[in-house]
Amino acid sequence: MKKKKVLLATSGGDCPGLNAVIRSFVKRASVEGNWEVWGSMRSFNGLLGQPQDLRLLDTKVVSGIHEKGGTILGTTKRSGPFNWPVKQPDGTYTYLDRSDEMIRMCREIGFDAVVNIGGDGSQAMSQRLFEKGLNIVGVPKTIDNDLGATDVTFGFQSAVDVATEAVDRLVSTAESHNRILVLEVMGKMAGWIALHAAVAGGAEICLIPEIPYDMKKIKHFLETRFEGGKKFAVVAVAEGAMPKGGEALGTKINDLSSVHLEGAAQRFAAELRALDLEPGIRVTILGHVQRGGTPVPYDRVLASQYGVKAFELVLEKKFGHMVAYRSPDVISVPIAEAVGKPKLVDPSSYLVHTAKSINICFGD
Ligand code: F6P
Repeated sequence: MKKKKVLLATSGGDCPGLNAVIRSFVKRASVEGNWEVWGSMRSFNGLLGQPQDLRLLDTKVVSGIHEKGGTILGTTKRSGPFNWPVKQPDGTYTYLDRSDEMIRMCREIGFDAVVNIGGDGSQAMSQRLFEKGLNIVGVPKTIDNDLGATDVTFGFQSAVDVATEAVDRLVSTAESHNRILVLEVMGKMAGWIALHAAVAGGAEICLIPEIPYDMKKIKHFLETRFEGGKKFAVVAVAEGAMPKGGEALGTKINDLSSVHLEGAAQRFAAELRALDLEPGIRVTILGHVQRGGTPVPYDRVLASQYGVKAFELVLEKKFGHMVAYRSPDVISVPIAEAVGKPKLVDPSSYLVHTAKSINICFGD
């Protein structure tokens, strides 16, 4: 009997748990017996590139990969079927829409479905491909936890684990030296990683984009703390944090208007120095350490559920849908509902209330 074929790709920034999705998807597919799972390397570059790089994923290939960080399929943020970069003689790039060609190629090769594992931007791409007629299913991922329609994305808990350990470590050295140590964490325009790490690690100040800070409030908080005898503090700063009336700091990284957020912690440290407080001030930028490495068990479990569910959506021909977690169930939602509305920290949430109740200052 002719086997059915499904193509799997990981798109956008990597995050811990991608390999657990790939493994559980392949294992679930193998139970059916009449499916071949193929992987497109580096997102859809494997399909669209010259030469093509498509790999057959069987249970042997995916054996034991659930505990590995990154993605065995590789990924990219820089290209896709709607914006395929073409280098010009002067070194600049123009971008081609190759989406029709991609859909035609999928039909010619005989892929019955495509599964795109990615964050907000990647799922917006899935939705556009679906609207053009591609049988596509989405799987959400991002350490930022900022995707709507799902309670949580895998990768987030692993990032929080790393960020919390960083806070823990900074606390002991801050106390030994009587210093203010400022830690910048990722999260784009969402403060989830900073907030969770601040509560879990016991930071004194937490700055997130959803709550712009006022240096007068920060000064008052620190002076009160120092007068009380504790002459050190740890600050968890989300990379998108901003002062009241200010903006997030970043640079455009290409002409597709992606922004690389950078400088929030350094700006805050400069603002702190201008207050002439007694303790010395140092900055730590945690960066991609948060995104690499082994997924924590929670992310492996969630990712494994997503992989199984994604294959079942393919079986049910529930295209244009994305798997999602609504405690305690793994469900599916239309991709269109999931993209474009980032899930941000609600300043009136119980988690922010909890943080404030344990004396974490947001500067508001
Ligand atoms: O979206 C995930 C994320 O890690 C963000 O937290 C961060 O702003 C961005 O990606 C970093 O991107 P890059 O890997 O391109 O530097």
